[in-house]
Amino acid sequence: MLDGVIISQNIRKELTAAIEGCPHDKLFVLTDTTTHELCLPLIANLPVFDGAHHITIGATDAHKTLDTLTAVWALMGSYGGTRHSLLVNIGGGMVTDLGGFAASTFKRGIKYINVPTTLLSMVDASVGGKTGINFNGLKNEIGVFNSPEYVIIDTVFLKTLDDKNIRSGYAEMIKHGLISNKSHLAELLNFNLHEPDLQMLAQMVGRSVEVKEHIVEADPFEQGIRKALNLGHTVGHAFESFALTTQPVLHGYAVAWGLICELYLSCVKTGFPTDKMRQCVQFIKEYYGQMPITCDDYPTLYEFMTHDKKNTSGTINFTLLKSIGDIEINQTASRDEIYEMLDFYREGL
Ligand code: GLY
Repeated sequence: MLDGVIISQNIRKELTAAIEGCPHDKLFVLTDTTTHELCLPLIANLPVFDGAHHITIGATDAHKTLDTLTAVWALMGSYGGTRHSLLVNIGGGMVTDLGGFAASTFKRGIKYINVPTTLLSMVDASVGGKTGINFNGLKNEIGVFNSPEYVIIDTVFLKTLDDKNIRSGYAEMIKHGLISNKSHLAELLNFNLHEPDLQMLAQMVGRSVEVKEHIVEADPFEQGIRKALNLGHTVGHAFESFALTTQPVLHGYAVAWGLICELYLSCVKTGFPTDKMRQCVQFIKEYYGQMPITCDDYPTLYEFMTHDKKNTSGTINFTLLKSIGDIEINQTASRDEIYEMLDFYREGL
């Protein structure tokens, strides 16, 4: 287990203990406009927040910018922040990534705590120490690895999260199922996402976070096995970038579609069992639909894949599977194989 990751059933108690566990002079609380309205009330009036300075930034990835970061630095400075101050980030991945980067760089680094409020940030973004902002049209282009003192994960926040964002986070959970073991994947694929049972989801979140924790603990700086977490993301990021030119999609939807493609590639190249692939594809098609693409879009999608951060020496890098939990990092595929994979995505099952 990573130090400091807490699966909470009492956010007020756990957050109080975490803040008390990080002695500080000034306390800053970062929210975005959505979490300020929907999530902060659940933890407002905590005695540990007495005298805290609240900073609220715009919601959505459009605000994960240098301008927003500058504003956060400036406010922490104007409120008298020092190297002994503490930042608490309350929000989805945008807030925890940007807030984590603000904390990591302010006065050469202050301590911070993440309180993820979306399913995506609970199971992925808030855990593992990746921080950063978008820059120059590229996602997460500038940032550092630096872990929070605590991540307090409490599914109470999911009560106000819309269905699409539940599904978006759930795609990363399916990925964790695929890279861990059959029984975890089976419970994920048997879950009814049309009417999610939040209690059952909370238990699966705990198991999902454990999968990520084990991997990050083994390879915090993504030199090797942490690349397992990139399953579905080489194609997923290409879909996400492609969608920006027409109708933007949530990250997890693009990852789910990327999983279809990369499981197909796993069947072809590393012998992943076809029946398991079909089971996953069926689940994803039922809950995530499909992004409409034609073969005229293949060159653009291919081009996006060649620009992926994970590539080295001009080859497109994939994480594939031999079987559930049996991971093959640093795999490549030819243009023809990638086009065939996209054919399968459009027509498959
Ligand atoms: N989101 C993938 C990772 O944290 O490595």
